[in-house]
Amino acid sequence: MDKLLITGQKQLNGKVTISKSKNAYLPILTGVLLNPEPVHFLNIPKLKDMDTTCKLLSKLGVKIAVEGNRTSLCAGDITSCEATYDLVKTMRASILVLGPLLTRFHRAKVSLPGGCAIGARPIDIHLSNLEKLGAKIVLHAGYVEAFTEGLIGTKLVLSFPSVGATENLMMAAVLAKGETVIENAAMEPEIDDLANFLNSMGAKVSGIGSNILHIEGVKSLHETTYEAIGDRIEAATYLIAGLITGGKVTVLGVNPDHLDSVLAVLKDMGTNVEVTNDSITVSAKNLKSAKVETSPFPGFPTDIQAQLVALVTQASGTSIITENIFENRFMHVSELLRLGAKIELKGNSAIIEGVSALQGAPVMCTDLRASAALIIAALAAKGESEIHRIYHLDRGYENLEAKLSALGAQVQRVRE
Ligand code: UD1
Repeated sequence: MDKLLITGQKQLNGKVTISKSKNAYLPILTGVLLNPEPVHFLNIPKLKDMDTTCKLLSKLGVKIAVEGNRTSLCAGDITSCEATYDLVKTMRASILVLGPLLTRFHRAKVSLPGGCAIGARPIDIHLSNLEKLGAKIVLHAGYVEAFTEGLIGTKLVLSFPSVGATENLMMAAVLAKGETVIENAAMEPEIDDLANFLNSMGAKVSGIGSNILHIEGVKSLHETTYEAIGDRIEAATYLIAGLITGGKVTVLGVNPDHLDSVLAVLKDMGTNVEVTNDSITVSAKNLKSAKVETSPFPGFPTDIQAQLVALVTQASGTSIITENIFENRFMHVSELLRLGAKIELKGNSAIIEGVSALQGAPVMCTDLRASAALIIAALAAKGESEIHRIYHLDRGYENLEAKLSALGAQVQRVRE
């Protein structure tokens, strides 16, 4: 297992190119299952979650060919409709094969994802709405077994704008008969990206960008080439990393509109923010405290909560960060305390006393974004930090050490 050694208090400055979005490419790749024709993608990030998705798709019979930055997938000859436990347990997003398999092949068997470090994460919204589209669903021996004689479009009203459920249902509706309407749909930019990808294959999704999606079922899809949006979470992570070191960092290849809520918070904290249509630059002299609650898009993303908690340890005054999406998403807090942060947890809020003198220490990653928070804190800490269990980071940050080093961080990966 690898670990990272970070010597803190080196100012980060310069430009960093952001990779294509992991959370956009995950559903998009499973969307290939809808189409017997080849589909080509540009610049899929080299991440563990992308490997796991490709492994899962190839187990189902999808042919995958990589040529430079272009990856071609073809689901013309599917040999299995079963996503087994060994793959689903390592990556919950595997549940996204359910909608596409069911609508095209009329059956699917997918292992129940179970809990994960940041909460229980049930899939009831996925399943109850697939039933409304005409699926028969049985839970048996740890698996979701779904059958249909053909899905039929109808009106669905989600009880919560779940990102994964919106994606699964949108894909299921693409080959369903007639029109499906999804109300209270999630509006995250990754949802828009999936809809644009599906439309590029001949699907008929409208209402993109709103919380009511209309999907007119089509009989078949055709070949396409697609490139996902830039990763807004990765971009925010580097911006925050720059700010905590007092530097000036520019992220390239991201749509600033996707980070409106985050940039608003950073501005309120005293950050100078400059944007172009595909870049963001931030710098700050003195940071002020923040009071922020996570909520579905366009609200402040839960995936940037941990990084913000790390940042406000270096802002003047007391900050309150409230987590409303996941019930157990503060595992970074106990590790940040080891670095010298002053944080108290009260229910689903973290109360952070600003400008604590962080001191390097050995810390342990618990999930992907918690790991990013530890790196950010380590960059501001005096002396050396050892970041253990960085396999979490390898799921979502492409070339992390190279990108950080290029900005001026002192970071090194070593084998434990
Ligand atoms: C996606 C993102 C994840 C992000 C999250 C919220 C991917 C691969 N992952 O996860 O990074 O943190 O959106 O923005 O894109 N819920 C239910 N029942 C359901 C589905 C969800 O109760 O059937 C609850 C979950 O337990 C959670 C909340 O709804 O509390 C949000 O979950 P959801 O939006 O579905 O997140 P994911 O799609 O799993």
